[in-house]
Amino acid sequence: MEICGPRLLTRIAELARVGGLEGGGCCRLALTEADKAGRAQVVAWMRELGMDVRVDALGNTVGRRAGRRDDLPAVMTGSHIDTVRTGGIYDGSLGVLAGLEIIQSLHEAGHQTEHPLEVGFFTNEEGSRFAPDMMGSLVYVGDLAVDAARAAQDAEGVSVGDALDSLGLAGDAPVPGPAPHAFVELHIEQGPVLDREGVDIGVVTAVQGIRWQKLTLTGVSNHAGTSPMSMRADAVYVAARITTMVRELTAEVGAPMVGTVGHMAVRPNLVNVVANHVELTTDLRHVDAAVLVQAEATCNARIAEICAVEGVGLQTERLASFDPFSFDPATVGRVRAAAAARGLSHRDMVSGAGHDAQIHGRVAPAAMVFVPSVGGISHNIEEHTEDHHLVAGAQVLMDVMLGLAS
Ligand code: HGY
Ligand code: MN
Ligand code: MN
Repeated sequence: MEICGPRLLTRIAELARVGGLEGGGCCRLALTEADKAGRAQVVAWMRELGMDVRVDALGNTVGRRAGRRDDLPAVMTGSHIDTVRTGGIYDGSLGVLAGLEIIQSLHEAGHQTEHPLEVGFFTNEEGSRFAPDMMGSLVYVGDLAVDAARAAQDAEGVSVGDALDSLGLAGDAPVPGPAPHAFVELHIEQGPVLDREGVDIGVVTAVQGIRWQKLTLTGVSNHAGTSPMSMRADAVYVAARITTMVRELTAEVGAPMVGTVGHMAVRPNLVNVVANHVELTTDLRHVDAAVLVQAEATCNARIAEICAVEGVGLQTERLASFDPFSFDPATVGRVRAAAAARGLSHRDMVSGAGHDAQIHGRVAPAAMVFVPSVGGISHNIEEHTEDHHLVAGAQVLMDVMLGLAS
């Protein structure tokens, strides 16, 4: 059974236009008009394919194709269609649209699987507007209450609940959603490994742990000319010390640890005023849970020390916390076998990014299929994956799903 590659590529290009940015890439931040338009496009395709579509209270959307045995749990695939602000056109979209392509190809072949098949997109996977990331999947599996998710606010104080209601994106499908027979997600690697090694398929064995927190630094704003250095409580200086400390910590711990200060907002942000207010975020990741816990404790101790020495106030807020997650070995084995059967080069690897599949893997056997990101670039409008890899990844996904659903 083969997918129709050109049709998949056409849908990717069409969805990329929704929230499309000048110069390429797209911005469909979670629960914005662009996200709503993207959702509408995907749901229209689901309906064209005769799928039953259900939407839950967080806007998680699942299209379903009946199996011969509709009482059996579905084999599910999917991902997300929300993007970061400077998103590429493949992150998330590829996994959803590959699922639709598989459904359409089976339809045209008149092939009905034993188990039902489902294709989902889950609200706010990115987490860059509303924390935590993978929010929709957490609600879908029952690990985050709808009300707790609805209460999350963005930088402007808009809540998930406000955004859902104003866009009319909430539905009445049950939460948690029905646990699938298995969940398999196709995604771009977003890192440099496959591209650098010239390997076609990543057989994802695990996802590294993630720790996000928001720091609010409170100093004393003062005249840049008149206040002696010994009298300053300079929030920007502390933010800079924290930023370099995070980098130094990753060097001390060593690869594959990564640490990022990605968001920083300064007030009053003026050339001749010592800043009294900085909000910044830290993102620490490691594949080993104990190392990550230890690294975060070291990081937080150093942050407190830097603030104390400089007389700058500190407030911290946990934004996301995911332990490293290992996928189901048998399902991972199906990905490896499917790649091999197609004559595709492949290698086992750990995902640097978080994904919906790691959450659905809490309630069902799960695995992921990676395809190379050119230059390892992602969360960047230059994100690119070669067409033949996009098609190969979707074909491997189809083979794995058919194996699970028959
Ligand atoms: O941050 C992540 O790992 C994902 O892109 N949400
Ligand atoms: Mn993604
Ligand atoms: Mn992403």
